[in-house]
Amino acid sequence: MAMGLKRLDSSNWLTLDSAYLPEHFLRCNLLCTHRPQVIQCLPGSEPACHEVLSLVTSFLSSRFPQHFTLINLTLPSGEVPAIHNHLTQETFPVGRQNCPNPLEIAAKLSMEDFNILVKNQETGEYELKASATLFPAGWKLQERIGTGMANLHKPVPGWKEKLGGSVNRYFDHLSPKTSMERTNLFIQTTPDLFQDAPEKITEGEIIMPKRLMVRRERQTFMRLANTGAVLFTVRTYMTPLVELGVEELKALKSQVMGWEEEIKVYKGWGIWGEPLLRRCDEVFGVEEGRELNSSERTVSCFLLISLASGFE
Ligand code: HEM
Repeated sequence: MAMGLKRLDSSNWLTLDSAYLPEHFLRCNLLCTHRPQVIQCLPGSEPACHEVLSLVTSFLSSRFPQHFTLINLTLPSGEVPAIHNHLTQETFPVGRQNCPNPLEIAAKLSMEDFNILVKNQETGEYELKASATLFPAGWKLQERIGTGMANLHKPVPGWKEKLGGSVNRYFDHLSPKTSMERTNLFIQTTPDLFQDAPEKITEGEIIMPKRLMVRRERQTFMRLANTGAVLFTVRTYMTPLVELGVEELKALKSQVMGWEEEIKVYKGWGIWGEPLLRRCDEVFGVEEGRELNSSERTVSCFLLISLASGFE
């Protein structure tokens, strides 16, 4: 387990691709139906939330000008600054006076989830003060809001000893000019983006490789220039395992096989390990044209005889 950080190319901070509209509607739906589970902003976090929305609107309107425009909106109270989303035909007022829920608007405009962390000067720990996490990977926001990095990572085996200290130090040195990114990988048996508990399957259930989904998170870290808080964004990508090409599957297998035993268990190896290896065997066996083993030979002979005799 390593921090695995690399320098972020700031022109690629927020992403936009063909999943935008379906994910946008899912995000809006979650904000209506599961609000406390997906958004939490503690008192005192308001200035940082506004700073995030301001960064998001200026990034989106300059990086994707065909989709987002900064405008002046005429309201009964007068003209207010706003952003218009041409993809959804929505317009949102922005700025401290006009927008009571800045983190929600940031989460509706973009495909990323947003987390704001502030250093507790007494403990030196960074604490989660506000979060719009529409797509959690197996954890509950309500249980973690307001807590520090150690509690956020409590279920992660070896976190405290291996990463705890270095992550707090790393955040101390983060500056608005040194934004970073890293990726996370999970495997799950459903395509659900909102996953607020570790996966469970019923005993004896057989998981076929075609059910497995590869869930990747692209995470970015930056220091907010005005409020000094740390902003952590997460974009989640979901791909069916069976859609991975040979090289991608090889890379996935070697990443997973490199995990320590306790990390494998934490990530649910007991649920998806065997079907993942089965898929690898199928794909690599065909690719290498390898000899079939004796039980595979028996099955193929049976299939050939069945086909030849029209047996179903
Ligand atoms: C450099 C900073 C960070 C590193 C190196 C890091 C690393 C990790 C690792 C290794 C895991 C285990 C899952 C996996 O192996 O992919 C994890 C899980 C997690 N991380 Fe982080 N993380 C960082 C920052 C953050 C921040 C800022 C948050 C704030 C929201 C956060 C929240 C979580 C949560 C909620 C989990 C899931 C824990 C669970 O299973 O209940 N992480 N992180």
